[in-house]
Amino acid sequence: MNQEKYNESLFNFIKNSPTQYHAVANMAKTLSNNGFIPLKEGEKWTIKPYSKYLVTRNGSSIIAFLTGGNRPWESGIKIVGAHTDSPCLKVKPIPEVENRGMVSIGVEIYGGLILNSWLDRGLNLAGRVTVLSLNDDGKESIFTLLLNYDYPLATIPSLAIHLDRNVNTKKVLNPQLDMLPLLDIIRNTNGNMAKMKFREILFEQVIKQHSNINIKELLDFDLSFSELQPPFFTGANQTMISSPRLDNLLSCHAALKSIVRSANGYIDKNFSTDVVAANSSAPCMIVCTDHEEVGSDTASGARGSFLSSVLSRLIPNNEDRIRSYAKSFIISLDNAHAVHPAHTERHDLNHAPFINNGPVLKINGSQRYASDCESSAMFRYICRCADIPMQTFVMRSDMPCGSTIGPAISSSTGIKTVDVGAPTLGMHSIREITGSDDPFMLFKAINQFFSMDSLPLEVLQ
Ligand code: CO
Repeated sequence: MNQEKYNESLFNFIKNSPTQYHAVANMAKTLSNNGFIPLKEGEKWTIKPYSKYLVTRNGSSIIAFLTGGNRPWESGIKIVGAHTDSPCLKVKPIPEVENRGMVSIGVEIYGGLILNSWLDRGLNLAGRVTVLSLNDDGKESIFTLLLNYDYPLATIPSLAIHLDRNVNTKKVLNPQLDMLPLLDIIRNTNGNMAKMKFREILFEQVIKQHSNINIKELLDFDLSFSELQPPFFTGANQTMISSPRLDNLLSCHAALKSIVRSANGYIDKNFSTDVVAANSSAPCMIVCTDHEEVGSDTASGARGSFLSSVLSRLIPNNEDRIRSYAKSFIISLDNAHAVHPAHTERHDLNHAPFINNGPVLKINGSQRYASDCESSAMFRYICRCADIPMQTFVMRSDMPCGSTIGPAISSSTGIKTVDVGAPTLGMHSIREITGSDDPFMLFKAINQFFSMDSLPLEVLQ
């Protein structure tokens, strides 16, 4: 796996993952194709050594793990975390907003969007729908299907500068009034207006995309608008990547690729490539959870029970589990703010990461990041072993700091955690920018972590 192939795989993953549901489905598929055994939370588990498993919750969070040869209370578990969701426009249950024959779709703002970046873009619509279907035996059942228009279904038009002379000086977008994806113009030549029902259009599309299923009725949906234009390289020397959802699919992809590589290391321990082969016998795990952009406090979010409940089934004995936690280590991945070329003053310049300069270690005295001097030291050591540069970010002292899943999964388990991520410009814009070298460097760091048989870290008890 070289950088070119890696970025190609990242681009495909992002393009094919318009929502967290698609991201998790794609991750589960890649894992299954690489021999990971799917487990269901509702069924009995029999976990074996040197085996690989995956489990999902709500179709929007996923955990995959390699059991390794060691017992976790002896070696600890090496865990990499990330989040699957990205800021987007979420369709309301009764979304039709009709004005003079122009039909727009009412949306909620999901996460902290930069609203103006969402204007005038070809917006895709995707997510999941719940349908009532008729089984062969005549019984009804309700289940969930994925849906992806993969088409610029709607656009939020800007108001012309001639109709709003203050657009460049005073314009503030109102989420209720200004963020309305325009779906269709149904004004006919007689001036009569036909009623348009979003559910009817949707139902047609669901049937088209799932023609093999006997669908009786569309019951509900969880759909969002997102950027359709796929990732691309930019810059005179293609040194940058412009892409939607880099936060945080870049990290999910790094976690996914690393655990797959580690899993294959069990079979082929003779890698001779540019990335160190991960073939350690200590257990490895990735955990990618939903709802980070809205605080993680849900059943499938990082503040929910998903990780703890999987760990308690892996290590049922309470004492063994607590001993395992004390020896485990989490690298929590989420993108970091790179210095903006026109706004270097927004950074503490001693802690200002640059694009293409390596993964960013994130520190915050108020513990909005879970890194401490022990976990930071461990990450520095990992980067040194992987022979990649790394950088350090601390928010300006006069500005509030964002957070991520690190503090959530660290506080609920007690596992030593470090928060790191790829340097990114324009976080939460409809398109974000990272360096062309950054995703692969992050991947190298995670590979290094997973390949270590034991971590040389003696933590204070
Ligand atoms: Co994020």
